Amino acid sequence: MRRTFVFTSILILCLSTITISVQSHYHSQHDPGEPKSTDLHFFLHEAPSGNNATVAMIARSNITVDVNNSSMPFGTVYAIDDQLRVGLEPDSELIGNAQGLTVIIAGRNTPPSVLLYFDFGFTTGKFNGSSISVISRNPTTDMDRELSVVGGRGKFRMAKGFAHLKVHSANATAIIAELNVTVIHRYGKHNKCYYNKEKIAFLDFSPKFK
Ligand SMILES: *[C@@H]1O[C@H](CO)[C@@H](O)[C@H](O)[C@H]1NC(C)=O
Ligand SMILES: *[C@@H]1O[C@H](CO)[C@@H](O)[C@H](O)[C@H]1NC(C)=O
Ligand SMILES: *[C@@H]1O[C@H](CO)[C@@H](O)[C@H](O)[C@H]1NC(C)=O
Ligand SMILES: *[C@@H]1O[C@H](CO)[C@@H](O)[C@H](O)[C@H]1NC(C)=O
Ligand SMILES: *[C@@H]1O[C@H](CO)[C@@H](O)[C@H](O)[C@H]1NC(C)=O
Ligand SMILES: *[C@@H]1O[C@H](CO)[C@@H](O)[C@H](O)[C@H]1NC(C)=O
Ligand SMILES: *[C@@H]1O[C@H](CO)[C@@H](O)[C@H](O)[C@H]1NC(C)=O
Repeated sequence: MRRTFVFTSILILCLSTITISVQSHYHSQHDPGEPKSTDLHFFLHEAPSGNNATVAMIARSNITVDVNNSSMPFGTVYAIDDQLRVGLEPDSELIGNAQGLTVIIAGRNTPPSVLLYFDFGFTTGKFNGSSISVISRNPTTDMDRELSVVGGRGKFRMAKGFAHLKVHSANATAIIAELNVTVIHRYGKHNKCYYNKEKIAFLDFSPKFK
């Protein structure tokens, strides 16, 4: 009971400090630290159809012509929840997922192309809980493609970079692609609110990195 009261008081103190601070200073500066570079190598496993499909059509245009009965006419939007694995094998270690949207952006007179809005999230190891954001054109007729990395979360905060994607195999039930991602990012401690007798410090953007 007493501990709960103390803890609650600290929380209230921290919150009120933040409120006061917001009123008096609406900005602060901090050193984001030295940039880091990380290379990632993994495989994306997609199931376009079947009971466990990782692709679901959300909407499609009713005015685009379905040339050759393509399953992906211009103006179609899909939700994606693909698996990220360490290898080509469907039973290799699962390390995360690629979740997001794809939009078919090529019309009849342009080469097939898709716009990806993906969050590559990792669920194991050093980058568990961190993710990188990809917003990029994905020219689906090229076997080797480059995607742009525009941001990230967790250990990939402020990420910028690129990914090389190569399709290894594709059929109606399985698409397997290899990715090499290079990102420059900065990460530090999480923002903290802590109490000591002298002062209440908050928003600790420590420039020290692990
Ligand atoms: C779908 O996933 C479930 C659970 O992982 C599995 O038992 C089932 O065999 C899978 N079905 C297909 C068609 O792959
Ligand atoms: C497409 O959908 C809109 C809205 O329902 C409708 O007004 C229009 O007639 C449809 N066009 C065609 C070609 O079916
Ligand atoms: C439709 O199929 C024909 C024959 O396979 C091919 O020549 C043509 O390029 C296809 N059109 C589109 C838009 O994919
Ligand atoms: C598209 O599919 C419809 C119905 O399945 C079929 O009648 C038509 O011939 C197909 N068109 C082409 C170009 O394959
Ligand atoms: C990843 O992080 C989540 C949330 O913190 C945790 O529940 C899970 O056990 C972690 N997984 C691994 C493999 O470390
Ligand atoms: C990824 O990097 C490895 C090692 O350099 C290379 O063998 C592989 O071809 C690359 N794959 C892609 C898709 O860039
Ligand atoms: C599709 O490709 C996967 C991976 O290469 C393979 O395991 C599967 O047998 C293929 N399915 C068909 C119907 O060819």
